[in-house]
Amino acid sequence: MSQRTLVLLKPDAVRRGLVGEIIGRIESKAGWKISALELRTLDRPLLETHYAEHEGQPFYEPLMTFMSSGPSVAMVVEGERVIEGLRTMAGPTDPIAAAPGSIRGDFGTIVRENLIHASDSEESAEREMKIFFPNFV
Ligand code: RTP
Ligand code: MG
Repeated sequence: MSQRTLVLLKPDAVRRGLVGEIIGRIESKAGWKISALELRTLDRPLLETHYAEHEGQPFYEPLMTFMSSGPSVAMVVEGERVIEGLRTMAGPTDPIAAAPGSIRGDFGTIVRENLIHASDSEESAEREMKIFFPNFV
């Protein structure tokens, strides 16, 4: 079942020079490919839309500050079961709980600065792709 998902390499990943490493892992999965990619600093209105579900949480404002602190890489990745697959490849939200071998488990320590976002369902993927790539069909 081929799917598409929205992936963000967060500002910590870009600052630390991990873009190539992470994209390499994604491209190494059989049949997965990047079908849109952009480096950009995410602004507050876009982040409010993207993270609307977290408004009011104690981590919301620090998350907004972090996510707008420098450029991110936004991507659409497509391929076999890529939504579930990228969540597995990223690992759980807390990088200390994430298994070694996952992106968060290999490179992260802080919950907020956990390197990567990947859509968590088909509905989220459709919603998020429209936010970041409104002209992408
Ligand atoms: P994401 O949406 O970024 O893919 O991550 P996720 O599904 O694993 O985690 P989610 O619960 O959606 O949280 C979104 C992002 O907010 C930051 N966060 N900080 N307690 C905290 O300090 C805290 N909790 C969440 C993380 O950057 C998380 O990825
Ligand atoms: Mg999430």
